[in-house]
Amino acid sequence: MNFEFTEEQLTVQQAARDYAQREISKDVLERDEASLYPTKHVKALSELGFMGMMTDMTYDGAGMDTVSYVLAMEEISKVDPSVSVIMSVNNSLVCWGLEKYGNEEQKQKYLKPLARGDYMGAFLLSEPEAGSDATKQRTTAEDKGDHYLINGTKNWITNGNSAGTYLVIAHTNPEKGHKGINAFIVERNWEGISVGPHENKMGMRSSDTHSVMFSDVKVPKENRIGADGFGFKFAMETLNGGRIGIASQALGIASGAFELALKYSQERKAFGTKIFNHQSLAFKLSDMAVKIENARNLCLKAAWLKDHKKDYSVASAMAKQYAADIAMEVTTQAVQIHGGNGYVKEYKVEKLMRDAKLTQIYEGTSEIQKIIISRSLIS
Ligand code: CAA
Repeated sequence: MNFEFTEEQLTVQQAARDYAQREISKDVLERDEASLYPTKHVKALSELGFMGMMTDMTYDGAGMDTVSYVLAMEEISKVDPSVSVIMSVNNSLVCWGLEKYGNEEQKQKYLKPLARGDYMGAFLLSEPEAGSDATKQRTTAEDKGDHYLINGTKNWITNGNSAGTYLVIAHTNPEKGHKGINAFIVERNWEGISVGPHENKMGMRSSDTHSVMFSDVKVPKENRIGADGFGFKFAMETLNGGRIGIASQALGIASGAFELALKYSQERKAFGTKIFNHQSLAFKLSDMAVKIENARNLCLKAAWLKDHKKDYSVASAMAKQYAADIAMEVTTQAVQIHGGNGYVKEYKVEKLMRDAKLTQIYEGTSEIQKIIISRSLIS
């Protein structure tokens, strides 16, 4: 096994670190406070090639591997996971789904601008009554011959308002169960689409989360992805890769909080010495470091499997579950190490603790990952 990164992977990691530490960190607190969308960072990351990182260059992507993606996601998430979730959804769910399963016309028309970052994409699976239980889609796509008519409501959609293109999952034949579900490419400005207000969230406050409503939205037949009834499989396969993105995000949140706590422990003094010199605290930091390293290895293993065209569905669920759970633990400890200062916004750890919570919820809760992992044990 080779644990060394290539020159190219290290260059990507450094570029992500430089941009995050130099630029994203400047306005992170004010965007969080006011729930402001990070427009200029999305543009800058697009220019760096980070919004279509893994998309082939023939479709205007950067043609990088999944390992590079994990490295970049970790660096950006250390500073602001609200920015990295926008990147993760566009890369893993939207561009990857279109590149893997879209036809040539769909790729030319929709994938290219998304991979360039001309605008973002969104992935519309979750519904008020279908979060974890994703087969229970109530949104319908009625087959009208040369087009489909979509009706229904999608919830908690990242990039819900800012996206130019939506990938929408909807039921065409409910009597066929998950085999009656389809996936569609839908343009944001088509008639019949309305977007609800920005969700006032606990964390990840600077990303753009909305409900999206469809009322008799006419979608041409050529905008269906894959064969009739392929939509659920499309969503599941896409989420397998999406979970590598969110696992890396959780990893970044944990390592960002850890770095802040380590630095603080070497500056802050109590009982006549730097608090790091108290073994109870040094041991806490040591435990945090081991958990972060484990999470990093799980993320990189899942990425490596994907890059080597091996099955990564269980590896990505393991990475997502573990990294999200330790992100919550590590950020909570990082706040504790900061004491009273940890509870104050300017020290930035409380923000990472709030952000961490969402990684245990979206793209499948930690419990959903355990369903995937436990089923694999007996399959
Ligand atoms: N990979 C590939 N295929 C899969 C799969 C996977 N991980 N999981 C299930 N499937 C396939 C099965 O093979 C089966 O196909 P066949 O009938 O052809 O054999 C089909 O899907 C149905 O499978 P199940 O019977 O196992 O389905 P289930 O109803 O028991 O549910 C589940 C499986 C894993 C729990 C699924 O419902 C699930 O993943 N739920 C979570 C949904 C989720 O992650 N939502 C996140 C929303 S997106 C988001 O958060 C984006 C954002 O904005 C950040």
